Amino acid sequence: MAPRPLIAGNWKMNGSLSALTQLEQVMAALSADEPEADVLICPPFPLIDRFSHAAAGSAVQIGAQDCHTAASGAHTGDVSAPLLADCGATWVILGHSERRAGHGETNELVKAKQAAAWGAGLKTIVCLGESEAERSQGRTLDIVAWQLAGSLAEGASAGNTAIAYEPIWAIGTGKTPTPADIAEVHGHIRRLLVSRLGADAVTLRLLYGGSVKPDNAAGILAAQDVNGALVGGASLKADDLLAIVKALPAG
Ligand code: PGA
Repeated sequence: MAPRPLIAGNWKMNGSLSALTQLEQVMAALSADEPEADVLICPPFPLIDRFSHAAAGSAVQIGAQDCHTAASGAHTGDVSAPLLADCGATWVILGHSERRAGHGETNELVKAKQAAAWGAGLKTIVCLGESEAERSQGRTLDIVAWQLAGSLAEGASAGNTAIAYEPIWAIGTGKTPTPADIAEVHGHIRRLLVSRLGADAVTLRLLYGGSVKPDNAAGILAAQDVNGALVGGASLKADDLLAIVKALPAG
């Protein structure tokens, strides 16, 4: 059976307290028209507590964009997974390419963060994806396999993890692979997961991310082995996020 899709919004370093109105608009629309998907919004850290309270009991879940490996301690500027859970987060995005590139995050670190997140009861979205140069050299499948092998922690399951395939060259650029290209990479990830996790991997959600917009979402979300999307820019506007949820193929 196909897994229940997940549409996750990654707000990155955008938003403000006033953006609560966007969350409220998403919640109102989804309460009138119950989605056939899990819907998640990951705002910056300081908004998580307020957003989680606002979203309690609604169809929208709230998540974070990173966490530290430790539960507490002398780590200036970092945020622990237990604190995120305490503030109402239920998910955390890990290993986004912007953190791999901008903060030097390695596969090993992403793996350790994943274990910390699960220990706090959070589910994780682990991000993978090739650069433009790697794609043009025909190395996409190898890069994704290497990242998956290195960043997915022991204990991953369909219940605690989703994988987001996000080609770096598609993030924030308006460029996307074709649905057939996406299906090829997702099929590869699925096979790798099945050989590692067995039957459970069949229902582990594989998200596509990178310039998903209302006008291309239907084609992407209908591709083989695509179980949802990780949406950056378009998730900041309630109308666009809702249009992407609506673009999911009928269950
Ligand atoms: P984008 O970002 O939708 O703005 O391309 C996606 C992401 O980085 O998760």
